[in-house]
Amino acid sequence: MRKICMIGTGYVGLVTGACFADFGNSVLCVDVDSEKIELLKKSVIPFFEPGLKEFIERNTARKRLGFSEDVEWGIRESEVIFIAVGTPSLSDGGADLSQVFAVAEKIAQNMSEYKVVVNKSTVSVGTGAKVAEIIRTHQRRSVEFDVVSNPEFLREGSAIEDFMRPDRVVIGATSEKAMAVMSEIYRPLYLIETPIIKTTLETAELIKYASNAFLATKISFINEMADLCEKVGADVNVVAKAMGLDGRIGPKFLHAGAGFGGSCFPKDTLALTKIAQQVNTQVSIVDAAIAVNRRQREIVFQKIQRLNGTLRGKCIGVLGLSFKPKTDDMRQAPSIAVIEMLIQHKAKIKAYDPVAMENARKVLDTVDYCQDPYGVAENADTLVIMTEWNEFRELDFPRIKGLMNTPKIVDARNVYDPERMRGLGFQYVGVGR
Ligand code: UGA
Repeated sequence: MRKICMIGTGYVGLVTGACFADFGNSVLCVDVDSEKIELLKKSVIPFFEPGLKEFIERNTARKRLGFSEDVEWGIRESEVIFIAVGTPSLSDGGADLSQVFAVAEKIAQNMSEYKVVVNKSTVSVGTGAKVAEIIRTHQRRSVEFDVVSNPEFLREGSAIEDFMRPDRVVIGATSEKAMAVMSEIYRPLYLIETPIIKTTLETAELIKYASNAFLATKISFINEMADLCEKVGADVNVVAKAMGLDGRIGPKFLHAGAGFGGSCFPKDTLALTKIAQQVNTQVSIVDAAIAVNRRQREIVFQKIQRLNGTLRGKCIGVLGLSFKPKTDDMRQAPSIAVIEMLIQHKAKIKAYDPVAMENARKVLDTVDYCQDPYGVAENADTLVIMTEWNEFRELDFPRIKGLMNTPKIVDARNVYDPERMRGLGFQYVGVGR
């Protein structure tokens, strides 16, 4: 059992903190946002993540998890300090590391005994070394410490499961002492034989970007194949299935759709191109994945436009707004780009999402938000599925058809069976089939 301080109670910090507490460690989550901390003390979580509330309640009750706005105190009290603050995109695509560096200074100033400082935030290669340098130069007196890179691979919507049963854990560190501490806090994962990659700081930092960029590339690849399928009369779902059965390719992340969104893939692919630029080289495949992803949103828009002729005054009903199911996260959601294009073309938009409407209102204020999918269908000229929430899989389609102005569906996530939908009397357009 180790005493851990998690700095930053965003998505990564909160999930990681709660899970480490569940492993039996003593975890203090700190954040300068005192309002957020007050809410967290009452187990009120500022975003939607299945299972997280129960985890926080359970570990708070067992006194293994606490919350505080006193960052300095948190640093002083703990042996292992995780940096899990935001690293948003700068206007040039690089990662903004100012919060990470500010935390490093704070750690230096509040250090009186050996600390392991662990970077959880996604940071450009070389940041770990920079954090070590900042700590060294800002210490009041020389105290031993180690900097570790421990990137996270959690997916929103299944973060707890991903943490508890990861494909691998990556630990970048140069000292044996720090490795031993990290091994201890991850001990339950060692017991279930999780592969642990022990490597250098720089390699660990790059593993995170390379993994996200590869997954993003897989998505863009299949979306490009989907476009080709439409032109040659092939079915992308069958292409993806057959490709995925080749063990070297694998079936995951081969779902054609509206393209990737969220707080990670768009940001990390761009940051990787920036990292390459800084060392005078290129990541052309990643550049292409970004371009294809941008185009994919336009392709979805064009499908809606083609079905309607002119969009002026047409009512387009959108089902699903979040960047993927099981989250209320609207960051870089493909729905935003598609809806904005529709609005530019003077269409009227109605929409429904099971959990993301509150966040959607902040970015899409001229949309008419409805109570359920049937409210969206009422008088709509076209229904567009932007997020594949389970509750959209089994709708009462005869009722939907009766409510719509014209029974047209653009299924941007390939949720429905085209034959069945056409059989029900819909003009149906999917992606790549
Ligand atoms: C992603 C990675 O999957 C995590 O491993 C990583 O830890 C995280 O980023 C991060 O860097 O923090 P996340 O952004 O939560 O996780 O979401 P994903 O499930 O990976 O989906 C990303 C986007 O790709 C979504 O918009 C989704 O709809 C899209 N997608 C995914 C597809 O269009 N097709 C697919 O086959 C899979």
